[in-house]
Formats: sequence, structure tokens, C-alpha cells
Amino acid sequence: MTAVGIDAIEIWTGKLRLDLPGTFAPFKGEDPEKYTKGLGLEASSFPDVYEDIVTMGANAAKRLMDRRGLTPDDVGRIDVATESAFDNSKPVSTYIAGCLEQVFDGDFHHANKGERKFACVAGTQSIDDAYNWIKAGRNRGRSAIVVATDTALYERGDPGEATQGAGAVAMLISEDPDVVELSTEQGYGSADETDFLKPNQQFPSVDGKRSVQVYLARMREALEDYESVAGDTHLDDFAYIPFHTPFPGMVRKAGLLGFRHMIRDTEIEADLAGEIGRQPREGEFGSREAYEDAIREYMDALKRTETYQDWYAAAIEPTLTISRQVGNWYTGSVHIARVSALKNAAETGRGLTGERLLVGSYGSGAQAEIHAETVREGWRDEIGRLGLDEQLARRYELSFEEYEQIHDAHNHVKETEIEELTQPSGEFVFTGWGRMNERKYDYIE
Ligand code: COA
Repeated sequence: MTAVGIDAIEIWTGKLRLDLPGTFAPFKGEDPEKYTKGLGLEASSFPDVYEDIVTMGANAAKRLMDRRGLTPDDVGRIDVATESAFDNSKPVSTYIAGCLEQVFDGDFHHANKGERKFACVAGTQSIDDAYNWIKAGRNRGRSAIVVATDTALYERGDPGEATQGAGAVAMLISEDPDVVELSTEQGYGSADETDFLKPNQQFPSVDGKRSVQVYLARMREALEDYESVAGDTHLDDFAYIPFHTPFPGMVRKAGLLGFRHMIRDTEIEADLAGEIGRQPREGEFGSREAYEDAIREYMDALKRTETYQDWYAAAIEPTLTISRQVGNWYTGSVHIARVSALKNAAETGRGLTGERLLVGSYGSGAQAEIHAETVREGWRDEIGRLGLDEQLARRYELSFEEYEQIHDAHNHVKETEIEELTQPSGEFVFTGWGRMNERKYDYIE
């Protein structure tokens, strides 16, 4: 059976940086540790005035094509996943293809293009589409480009404002991939929910606390569904578990639930029983309330055990490094968690070829998806050529006043005069509107 999966990855971060504990928290009158310890965030990325979901996506895709020496003829699909689209008809992928055609010889006239929407899970769904297209033998030897690109802005004053971010991840999906092969087995947890939505509005309506609960509930269903086809999951099956990361504190909750699930009825649960007791089983309690109280108490004790903390430090913590520096990238977030894990392995000299990842994606509204990935031989070389650290270090540091101006500059209903804060070079930029109100882009040498 042909292996299909992620062959190459590139990232483009918004070029501005907002320091959350240092700049944002003091203006909000909040304790900086709410950010660093509670939410787990150091900084957010924001787009400069000439950046948007198209420029960030096209810049990531250009890096991907340059690095792999690709021409448009090598690409049979361009799918974009986003929750920040500005057009209900023309897909962002056509704008990105148009940008790329400015700089590459040839064109994408025979590539299928689309746009996927299901909150943050849409990037993973686009990878699925590409996987199925290749497996069905419809790709004519060509690869697919999947771009997850978002400007994750909230209304000012919304609790979500603390978790904003902006950036794009471009992934090449091919046969015989260099980074990871995707498992055929998948699990879903999907239900009609109203935790986060944008009914024809730019900024989301969010029930933040509820979205945390819905994330956990759907993720748990997806894991059970995955196990129904792939068999039970165990702690040592997976080197890393990258989750969708709206903010690292969310993953801290998901990791603990996942750990509890995976150790149930195993020797690890039995070994820990002396220290913290066995996991409460619902049948042993007279009411749901009593059972939930017991679970809460068990979880509190579980997270303090060395066994849990060692596992978390090895399998989860390394997936959060990039997220801590950039905030929420919506559709891109789970994909930067994967990159973060692979980057950690490369930096610590860990051999990963043949090892497996368990990847948990989530989109509000709501759906979680879980699948496994097997790391391929070329992973180290691919990750070694990312250049993300330089991009992060080069970001322009925003003052609070500049942050407010930039937020307004990206607000579709506000008119602003703000000048760009950085100088574009070797990248696509937004240049204004055309005669049908379409957005226009140029490549700046
Ligand atoms: N020191 C350490 N931790 C602190 C702290 C401090 N001074 N102040 C707060 N915290 C902790 C809180 O205990 C909480 O952690 P916990 O959930 O583990 O208890 C965390 O920091 C967040 O604080 P909280 O008061 O709950 O923040 P909030 O009311 O501003 O809202 C969200 C948090 C997530 C609801 C909000 O950011 C949001 O709406 N985000 C957008 C939606 C989202 O991303 N949902 C996730 C699923 S997709």
C-alpha cells in the first residue's frame, strides 16, 4: 500500500509581536501569570497592515515550493482552510494561486482549488481531502498543497482577546512522504454545538468556558471512535501527542484526560493505586454528582504524580513551544503543534523515524478528529530547514497603542491611517482593492 502523508511543511508568522505578560496584561490590569502560567502564552503574532490570510498563506506556500524545487505542474490541488475568509464565493486558494503564478513559471490552471470550513479542524480535513484524492489514484503523480491560514482576532474586550494570533502553515501532501505517513484509521466526535461561531461577522461570538468543555467532550468521543477501529491506545505507543492548541492551557486539560483514559485498566493505573487510589468507576457511585466529585479529586491527585508529570513533559510539553510564542492560529494550530514536537526531537537529537504521533484536531461547532502518524526518514532534514526561529526573532515588538491601531487596521468596518511597521522584502503584500472589490496582491523583491 502506498504511503501518503505530509511531505514538507513551511510556516509564515504574522510579522508583529505582542508581549502578553509584559505589554498586554498591564494594560488590562491583569496578573501576567494568568498568561504565562494559566493560559500558557508568552506572545501573540499579528499581521502588519500589508499582511492578511492570502499573503501569509502565499508566502508559506512559496517557501514550500522554493525549498522543494516545485513548479506549478507538480501541484494538482490547492486547498485552503480558514475561518477568516473575506469572500463567500471566491475561495482564498484562487488568490494564493494567483500570487504564486506571479513568481513561478507556468500556472495552476489544471489544479483543483477549494476552501474548507469547519472552524479549526478544517486544516486537518483539507489534508484528508488530499489524502483521499491521492489514495483514489486521481492525482496523476502530482502532490497537493494544503494551506491553513488565519487571522485569529477577537472583539476588543472579549476574553478571547488574550489568545489571538496570526499565521499560516503550508503543507505538501504526497505519496511516499518525507515527514509523516497518515494512518487510515480515524476517529470522530461531532455534534451540533454553539460554542464559537461567526454568523456573517468578522469577530467571533464565543462562549469561551463552554468551548473548553465542548473541546474535551468531542476529543474524548473521537479517541473512543479511533480506538474502535485502531484498537486501544497506550502511553508508549506514541512519541508525541500534538493537539489543537488554542492556548497551551487547553492542552494541559486535554493531556490529563487523555492520560487518565489511556492508563485505565493497565498496570500503570494499578501501580498508581497505592499513591492515589484506582480511578472512580461510575457504577460504584449512587449519583452522577458523587461520581463527578470523585473524578475531580482523582484528576487533581493524578496531575501531581511523577508518572503523569514525566509523561506530560515528554509527550505533550514539546508540542506547545511554538504556540506559546504565537498564540492561536485557528486552522494552523494543530499543525504548528506537530512541527513543535518534531523540532523538539531534532533539537534534542532524538531518533524518531518509525515512531508514531497521535494527532488530535478540534473545530468549534463542533468536531474533533483523531488519527495516528508514522514519522518518515526525511523528517529531520525537512524540519532542519524550516527557518521559523529567525522569523519569530525578527518580529516587530508592538506597544499597546500600536496593538490597538493594528487591531483596528484589520477590522473590516474601521477606516484607519496607520502606516506599516515593518518593511516587506521578498514576499507577497496586499496592495488594495480592484474594480469588483477584489483584493489585490504584488510580490515585493
Ligand atoms: N496565575 C496563574 N494562573 C492563573 C492566573 C494567575 N494569576 N489567573 C488566571 N489563571 C488561570 C485560571 O485558573 C485558568 O486556568 P484553569 O482553566 O486551568 O483554571 C486560566 O488561567 C484562564 O483564566 P480564566 O480566568 O479562566 O480566563 P478567562 O476568563 O479570561 O477566559 C478563556 C479563558 C479560554 C475562556 C478565554 O481565553 C476564551 O474565551 N478564549 C477563546 C475561546 C477558546 O480558545 N476556546 C478553547 C477551545 S477551542
